[in-house]
Amino acid sequence: MFPTRSKNVLTFIICLLGAFYLLHPALHWSISNSENKALTAALHRCAQLDLIPHPPFTFNPRRQRSERYESGTVPVLIKNATIWTGMDGGMDIVRGDLVLAGGVIREVGKVEFRELGGLGNVTVVDAQGAWLTPGIIDMHSHIGTYPVPLLSGALDANSRTGGVVTPWMRAIDALNTHDDSYKLSVAGGVTASLVLPGSSNAIGGQAAVVKLRPTSEKTPDSLVLESPYNADGLLERERPRWRHMKHALGENPSGTLPQGTRMDTIWKLREAYSTAKKIKVQQDEFCSSVQNGKLSLRPFPGDPNWEALVDVLRGRGKIHVHVYEAVDLSALAELSNEFQLPIAAVHHAHEAYLVPGLLNRTYGPPPAVAMFAAFGRYKREAYRHSEFAPRILADQGFTVIMKSDHAVINSRYVLHEAQQAHHYGLRAELALASVTTSPARVLELDHRIGYIKPGYDADLVLWDSHPLSLGATPSQIFIDGIPQIDTLDFKQPRLKSVSLQKAPTTPAYDVEAANAVTYDGLPPLEPEYHPSVLFTNVSEVTTRSHDGTSFTSNFRSDRTTTTVLVVQGRVECIGTRCQNLTGSEDVPVIDLEGGALSPALTTFGSQIGLEDITVEPSTGDGFLSRLSAEGVRAVDALRFGGRDALISYRSGISVGIVAPRSLGVFTGFGTAFSLGALHKLEWGAVVKDVTAFHVAVDYGHLQLGSSGSSVSTEITALRRLFLGGSRVEWVDHVLQGKFPLVVHTNSADVMATILALKREIEEATSSTIRMTFVGGAEAHLLAREIAEAGVGVVVIPPRSFPYTWSGRRILPGPPLTELSLSSALHTAGVKVAIGPETIGGFVSGSLVRNLRFDAAWVASESAGIITEEEAIAMASLYVEQLFGVHIDPKEASIVAVRGGKLLSFEGKVVGMVSPLKKGVAIF
Ligand SMILES: *[C@@H]1O[C@H](CO)[C@@H](O)[C@H](O)[C@H]1NC(C)=O
Ligand SMILES: *[C@@H]1O[C@H](CO)[C@@H](O)[C@H](O)[C@H]1NC(C)=O
Ligand SMILES: *[C@@H]1O[C@H](CO)[C@@H](O)[C@H](O)[C@H]1NC(C)=O
Ligand SMILES: *[C@@H]1O[C@H](CO)[C@@H](O)[C@H](O)[C@H]1NC(C)=O
Ligand SMILES: *[C@@H]1O[C@H](CO)[C@@H](O)[C@H](O)[C@H]1NC(C)=O
Repeated sequence: MFPTRSKNVLTFIICLLGAFYLLHPALHWSISNSENKALTAALHRCAQLDLIPHPPFTFNPRRQRSERYESGTVPVLIKNATIWTGMDGGMDIVRGDLVLAGGVIREVGKVEFRELGGLGNVTVVDAQGAWLTPGIIDMHSHIGTYPVPLLSGALDANSRTGGVVTPWMRAIDALNTHDDSYKLSVAGGVTASLVLPGSSNAIGGQAAVVKLRPTSEKTPDSLVLESPYNADGLLERERPRWRHMKHALGENPSGTLPQGTRMDTIWKLREAYSTAKKIKVQQDEFCSSVQNGKLSLRPFPGDPNWEALVDVLRGRGKIHVHVYEAVDLSALAELSNEFQLPIAAVHHAHEAYLVPGLLNRTYGPPPAVAMFAAFGRYKREAYRHSEFAPRILADQGFTVIMKSDHAVINSRYVLHEAQQAHHYGLRAELALASVTTSPARVLELDHRIGYIKPGYDADLVLWDSHPLSLGATPSQIFIDGIPQIDTLDFKQPRLKSVSLQKAPTTPAYDVEAANAVTYDGLPPLEPEYHPSVLFTNVSEVTTRSHDGTSFTSNFRSDRTTTTVLVVQGRVECIGTRCQNLTGSEDVPVIDLEGGALSPALTTFGSQIGLEDITVEPSTGDGFLSRLSAEGVRAVDALRFGGRDALISYRSGISVGIVAPRSLGVFTGFGTAFSLGALHKLEWGAVVKDVTAFHVAVDYGHLQLGSSGSSVSTEITALRRLFLGGSRVEWVDHVLQGKFPLVVHTNSADVMATILALKREIEEATSSTIRMTFVGGAEAHLLAREIAEAGVGVVVIPPRSFPYTWSGRRILPGPPLTELSLSSALHTAGVKVAIGPETIGGFVSGSLVRNLRFDAAWVASESAGIITEEEAIAMASLYVEQLFGVHIDPKEASIVAVRGGKLLSFEGKVVGMVSPLKKGVAIF
């Protein structure tokens, strides 16, 4: 074998040498040729490094057709709209017509139908003067990556294994195209979102700008607008597009490392950028030698993991930083200078208004500031949050953006963030810009979205009222020229009243805004009471009726105003002669400027009274242990004087009702207390020590923590409690109707089971149970049955969202359905109350202050089914009734509102008339 083999090897070598000999000239030629080729390729590659991102080749500002055009899209002519174009700093308003064709805006101004001959069939919409704005751009969203409804298999917004620094992660790789949120967000006028990786990692990875409409391709890629990756998924080098890179500082990334801290996070960022910088330097050296005609034998230096961060160092990335506090903004400013990194936007940035100079100290132009309106104080980082921050920062020339952090805030209502910022002093044109033109500019997509101009993408919203007015709702949304909702009256949309067709006149908050800064975000909130006050220029006085079950209108006029004298915290006199009864000159006079005296509100749903900072267990009462059926009482853990409590009081809410929090089915007894009190022993601090008995039954238990117990276990526990032999005294009280039984659930199936159980218990014990559902997302499915059982519903959140699987069958309300949950239940004869808006399914104490706006919205979206007075009852009387609290009308507080009504953006709460405190708190 051996000789044969060696012979073969020899032959092989000879052949090889021969071939080499024969081929040598060609090989020689080919080496120099491939050398040239390699040199050319290297030069080309190096030249690409300096390319600055630009719109894609396919983009032409005078284009008649978008590359996103879907064939079959019917052109639209919108006649007689009030068009906010976004131009001229948001001051440009065109009253006229608009043509959409080919997925783009063709014309803005005066357009005659006959001019449209070339377009074929055209849908004509008579806007009747309605407002038309660019589509809303939500610059901080996790839509499609944070699952709605919440399912554990799709929690894809944060890398959990990649480590602290993961610039190579891409949100697009986690984008679920079937999320329930898209349609809902679009229904709120949102047409595009920046989908960011989460904030668990110091560098979470790359974000993507997506449009929210379904596409015919049905792929995640087809949602992306001007992706830096081409159709094959490869990085587009010839004509680079912006990459958006998510960074996070502070509390969230600290949690990624075991016992990580702020110091670790900053070090990790510095280390990451040093690594990327080394690669960049190697590339630059490689390129300079190539440019000098020297072909290095090394390949182009690079590392797929670090390629994105090197791109950022080359100025081809937009850095978006999740950052809250001064300490982190300072670290960010240093990092940005060290590595010469301009920061596109700081997100959340709750303390930016306290240290605006730090924004200027970052490298390059100051970042835009993307914020929440009222959501704050949920962690230390957000404790100094101020509702005046958008206005304070805008006044100093910074770009202000309002965002959702979807599904933290449901992005369907991101416009409401801008509305609130406007209410607290952000100028109207900047408030509109904060969700349209400003994000378009920060994302550098302002060549095609964010404005209404010929050649721009046909992403538009037609509104039923001025977009900054409370409850403004789209009547149609276009994305790439395609109408997004099937409304029957699309060609002649419904308009709200004339008074809502202009931006609300908002109150003066200059003193409050200045105080927020003076007091480092913690202005004093403790109420000071004056025994007597004379209110002048009052256009409406509404109080509770004598029996305390309804309201009485004592004065109401559109034309004249009256004077109201309050003595010892009670209304003593209504009428112009009251002035003469003051008796002394010391009585403060408060001009309500045509405002109102209205019944104070009552809130249930948050942990105000038991907890100060949501994510800090040491600031709260803790949780009950599992399946504890003891009659635990919230009153025993009450705490007063929290900032959310006092801010709510200053927002017209006098009473808070709170239940203990539990990991199990039995939650315990709630309690009612005064939000303005500073300690429990104050007169009137505890309104009713023991209110209703609360139980929580739901699949997955999102609402109240996670028990892990099954619904059948929970129902069995309830049945045993009420029908088992050994009964405790308080159970008898529930059976006697002394306390309502409050069931927390969103599931129609649970509600149905509970209604059957209620009947079973009532029949077995000859009792009548007073029952209330809390949450109630699916209650509309059995509205009639709930009404027949005499059960009330406290709707939380007031505008439904499918947070959980068991609560996903929501009634989304206008413009998707005619009825909202509250109007459907009200129509069926159910007693309805409302609670606060939620944050990812949980209630934040900071949003309780918005109860008056939430009530206004309930009335506004009910199309007349619920009057404003009924909406006030749903946020006061009915809340009390459904939890078994009776407030003596002689002891009920009254809110003084200046410049408008309680349920309006025009009104400012300036006082709380408190009979129990024998005085008026002046704010
Ligand atoms: C225009 O609409 C009519 C009626 O819907 C239809 O029959 C016709 O084919 C359409 N023409 C074009 C060019 O789309
Ligand atoms: C446009 O709408 C307004 C408001 O409905 C109306 O007063 C006006 O007459 C309309 N103009 C035209 C040209 O239709
Ligand atoms: C930030 O810089 C701008 C432009 O230079 C300047 O107008 C502004 O006063 C600065 N603001 C702060 C807070 O330093
Ligand atoms: C109030 O008193 C003044 C004199 O003190 C008197 O001139 C005026 O008529 C009184 N007004 C009313 C409405 O009684
Ligand atoms: C009442 O308030 C309105 C609105 O601010 C103001 O125009 C009016 O002058 C005031 N009337 C009186 C009598 O002060």
